[in-house]
Amino acid sequence: MLDLADLPSCTKCALSEHRQRVVIGSGPERSSLMVLGEAPGRSEDEGGAPFIGRSGRLLFELIGNELGRRRDECFVTNVVKCRPPANRTPRPREIAMCRPWLDEQLRRCEPAVVLALGNTAAKSLFGFDEGISVTHGRVVQLGGAKGVATYHPAAALRGGPSVVEVMRGDLRIVRELLGAR
Ligand code: URA
Ligand code: SF4
Repeated sequence: MLDLADLPSCTKCALSEHRQRVVIGSGPERSSLMVLGEAPGRSEDEGGAPFIGRSGRLLFELIGNELGRRRDECFVTNVVKCRPPANRTPRPREIAMCRPWLDEQLRRCEPAVVLALGNTAAKSLFGFDEGISVTHGRVVQLGGAKGVATYHPAAALRGGPSVVEVMRGDLRIVRELLGAR
């Protein structure tokens, strides 16, 4: 059995060679909402927590507006726990090596809803083949949880108000799912 106490010293993939810190996650270990990003960026690698940079500010503003939840009321993590060099997309092998950590976090979190942000999270966790512009807002069954994907907040920072509006719509689906329990 995996012990999450070993995660801070994990060297199972090559991303361990470039990181400053393993970014494990934030929030209560057990939560009705798990928020899943792609990988730590520079701010997260330095600060040691997920989504503490610019995209995180937008993300938690939207989650606050649409779900009435604060950051510390969600369990927040990423598909891979170490920052890829120059923020490149994590490779399939890196995602696969890191997956048992995520599975253990999911097992402990027992979320009602998993919100996947962007293609890396949506494809790897929900198995989607198509891109996020097609798959956002879909509800999938993930063990005992429901899964919903939306755009990554970094895409909203680039794409502007129209992307933010799509994210708000997807978050309203999450709100209904959380309320329906
Ligand atoms: N982008 C992510 O996908 N995750 C973070 O933690 C920060 C930025
Ligand atoms: Fe280990 Fe995941 Fe970091 Fe790779 S990304 S070294 S598997 S914690």
